[in-house]
Amino acid sequence: MSPYVAYLDLTEPVELPDNTTLRLMNSADLPAVVALEQQNALTPWSLRSFELSLNTKQANWVVYFEATLVGFICANIIVDELHILNLSVAQEYRGQGLATALIMQLCRAVKDVPIRVIYLEVRQSNKVAQKLYRKLGFSLDGVRKGYYQGERGIREDALLMSRDF
Ligand SMILES: CC(C)(COP(=O)(O)OP(=O)(O)OC[C@H]1O[C@@H](n2cnc3c(N)ncnc32)[C@H](O)[C@@H]1OP(=O)(O)O)[C@@H](O)C(=O)NCCC(=O)NCCS
Repeated sequence: MSPYVAYLDLTEPVELPDNTTLRLMNSADLPAVVALEQQNALTPWSLRSFELSLNTKQANWVVYFEATLVGFICANIIVDELHILNLSVAQEYRGQGLATALIMQLCRAVKDVPIRVIYLEVRQSNKVAQKLYRKLGFSLDGVRKGYYQGERGIREDALLMSRDF
């Protein structure tokens, strides 16, 4: 288990850079969310996927810099499990703690649900995201072989990561 787990409480209040706001995602955000997804994801979610995700209350968040959508997180709750399904920050706004803030806001929002564990999947090649998750106390549970569609038709493994809530 990661050494961070013992002391990093993901439900602590979230600190944000100036002029940045976090709030629940709603359907009016979706055009900007889909545009960001298309810039950032190798196999982007469709508009319909985001619409369906909105059915899970308190689990979809956006971050804005002034009037510009600069990041989002989507999750699902299955009984006592929180599954992080999608997370993205616009290239020019990275490295300021926005992904960390989105994850922590999500955890604060669901803290009245008896969540036991948080799960996620990440591409084997996505070392930046893996570093983020390890910093937040996630550790490797296993590998799903060929889970993702990769570049040039080559399948890519998914790393399964989790941490106790
Ligand atoms: C992964 C991603 C969401 C990180 O967003 P971010 O807002 O830049 O992340 P944060 O600023 O909260 O970074 C927190 C930690 O992540 C790690 N990290 C972030 N960017 C990094 C980089 N370029 N190189 C190495 N580590 C990095 C660091 O450990 C960092 O902590 P530190 O600043 O104390 O070193 C963003 O790069 C992104 O949107 N990538 C494309 C989509 C994606 O990969 N989504 C995740 C799918 S599983």
